[in-house]
Amino acid sequence: MATFKHLPILFLIFFQLQKVFGLLKENELQKAFVTYDSKADKLSIVTSEPIDYVAKADFQNSVNSTCWSYLDVTTNPQYNDSMQAYAAGMVEGFLTKELIQYSWQNTAADYCTQPYNQYCKNLQKFLTQNYNWVKTEITQNFDSPFWHNVRLFYTQVSGLDAGFTGTPKQVNYDVDVLGMFYILQLSGDLEDLESVLHKPQKSHVLGSGSCSAIVKLTPGNKDLYVAQDTWTGFNEMLRVLKRYNFAYRMSETSSDLKHETYYKVLYLKIV
Ligand SMILES: *[C@@H]1O[C@H](CO)[C@@H](O)[C@H](O)[C@H]1NC(C)=O
Ligand SMILES: *[C@@H]1O[C@H](CO)[C@@H](O)[C@H](O)[C@H]1NC(C)=O
Repeated sequence: MATFKHLPILFLIFFQLQKVFGLLKENELQKAFVTYDSKADKLSIVTSEPIDYVAKADFQNSVNSTCWSYLDVTTNPQYNDSMQAYAAGMVEGFLTKELIQYSWQNTAADYCTQPYNQYCKNLQKFLTQNYNWVKTEITQNFDSPFWHNVRLFYTQVSGLDAGFTGTPKQVNYDVDVLGMFYILQLSGDLEDLESVLHKPQKSHVLGSGSCSAIVKLTPGNKDLYVAQDTWTGFNEMLRVLKRYNFAYRMSETSSDLKHETYYKVLYLKIV
């Protein structure tokens, strides 16, 4: 997602992944798990280690000392991908609730409030049409790895909402297109939509509109340095460094496991 666009200020973020995750020891670590009761067909969040889980996560909020918080989410391959995605969203929404709320207040809480103005109506219509098209593609391409992953993304976003509000439902990939969770995902794209959908006052993009990064492996593969300079307002400074370790398959009906471990640095854009 294109998120590094507006730029009053240039930030240099420089860190060693090893050190970053090493910091986990220094601050209080919060843990949460999502369990599944198959008889009741119900997912729940618990904070003490259960016998079995669908997703689990560690979270450490060190924003006050290092400007970073860290989230590490792992899912259990014994459950199907939809369950894993929804539970991963739930556990993240539960653990990072406070930062999600702060980030929302800092960035987009007043973007579209009811009663919607003409631009927000246009946006709602556009996003609803787009989402309906995505749903059609998902249902018509059930064995496609691409659409499978698109569905899992929406499922995870729906799970975030459930974990944040504490109201887990049946696993689903429904989203509220002008709701907090979808708008937070969209913010980089909104800048382009604003022109097309006639927003009277556009969000300003300052500077050149580009940013740069460097990835360097130290001799002997000893360490990995990741540096990025980006630009955005100070209101986007609440950061969560996320590691997702999901045991997804190529499609819902496939049995190949393609373990995905990847790092994401986001300004609480969530997925
Ligand atoms: C960070 O500092 C703020 C302001 O003092 C405080 O309200 C908040 O609880 C602190 N957060 C953590 C995770 O310590
Ligand atoms: C995933 O597993 C759950 C629980 O067993 C089941 O209700 C759901 O239908 C399954 N989803 C898919 C897409 O197979």
